[in-house]
Amino acid sequence: MTNKEKSAEMVSKFVHVLRCSICNMPMEVMDLKSLVCLNEHTFDLAKQGYINLLTRSVNSHYDKELFKARKSVIKESDLFSLLHEKILEIIKEYLEDSMSEIMFFDAGCGEGSHLQKIIDNAENLAVTGIGLDISKDGIKMAASNYKESIWLVGDLANSPLADQSCHVILNILSPANYKEFQRILVSDGIVLKIVPRSHYLKELREALFNNTDKKSYKNDKTVALFNNHFHLLDVINLKYTKKLTQTALIHLVQMSPLAWNTSKRDMNRIINQGISAVTVDLDILIGINKKTKGDRY
Ligand SMILES: C[S@@+](CC[C@H](N)C(=O)[O-])C[C@H]1O[C@@H](n2cnc3c(N)ncnc32)[C@H](O)[C@@H]1O
Ligand SMILES: [Zn+2]
Repeated sequence: MTNKEKSAEMVSKFVHVLRCSICNMPMEVMDLKSLVCLNEHTFDLAKQGYINLLTRSVNSHYDKELFKARKSVIKESDLFSLLHEKILEIIKEYLEDSMSEIMFFDAGCGEGSHLQKIIDNAENLAVTGIGLDISKDGIKMAASNYKESIWLVGDLANSPLADQSCHVILNILSPANYKEFQRILVSDGIVLKIVPRSHYLKELREALFNNTDKKSYKNDKTVALFNNHFHLLDVINLKYTKKLTQTALIHLVQMSPLAWNTSKRDMNRIINQGISAVTVDLDILIGINKKTKGDRY
């Protein structure tokens, strides 16, 4: 059986959580090759096993090199291990014990390593991962590396997921569409939005933007917007400093949108400056549907 056929089997098992991104109708898998909706809109599986459900072409700032660097840092260094552990802890704490199969949706998953690392550590939980990103390069890499999840190229503002289909929505350092998240989330599900705080990667920021006002930023507006759409159960600040190898540091500089406006010379200067440790400073916003709040709390 080819990778594509294996993915098609996996997708057919969970096809009820998907919907057509053109007409919103339910879909089914045909001949282990394509997803077809009731109105016969057809989306083929790629040979890596992902499905492109975008209805328009999109240019992304995020390219293969950036995703390769993200993969090395997220998968091979332990810079984000504490984040992965915390997310799993939150899922165990907030989801009902009775949930047998947890649909875990990563909206804006990039190359998929965060989702996969969390699932790999989930041990006793039956978790099915669905990663969606608007970047084909990111999803192609995810599908090539991680065979156990469903990978979709799509727009989170017009998500190819059915109403009330997911128990956990994860949104790490990516844009959000809260109307869509409200629609997709089951009534007792949770949304976890991960946003940077002012000391996030501060060592890189200081090296790049020394003496400018770009040095720090606030996330109050992000928190307020989240709070408008979901009942905010908690905000957990995760702040720690990790030592990095020179190779991991290079990848960290390459993976960050901070580097977009930075010349090669400045990148090299940062790398040679001898930064040996970097700070991770993130808020995890935990939300539930407002309608559900009364029933639970
Ligand atoms: C900073 S990256 C974070 C990726 C991943 N969560 C991680 O932490 O490695 C932001 C991601 O959001 C994706 N993105 C931006 N707009 C999107 C949209 N409308 N729908 C889906 N993904 C989107 C980008 O393609 C990119 O992969
Ligand atoms: Zn359709």
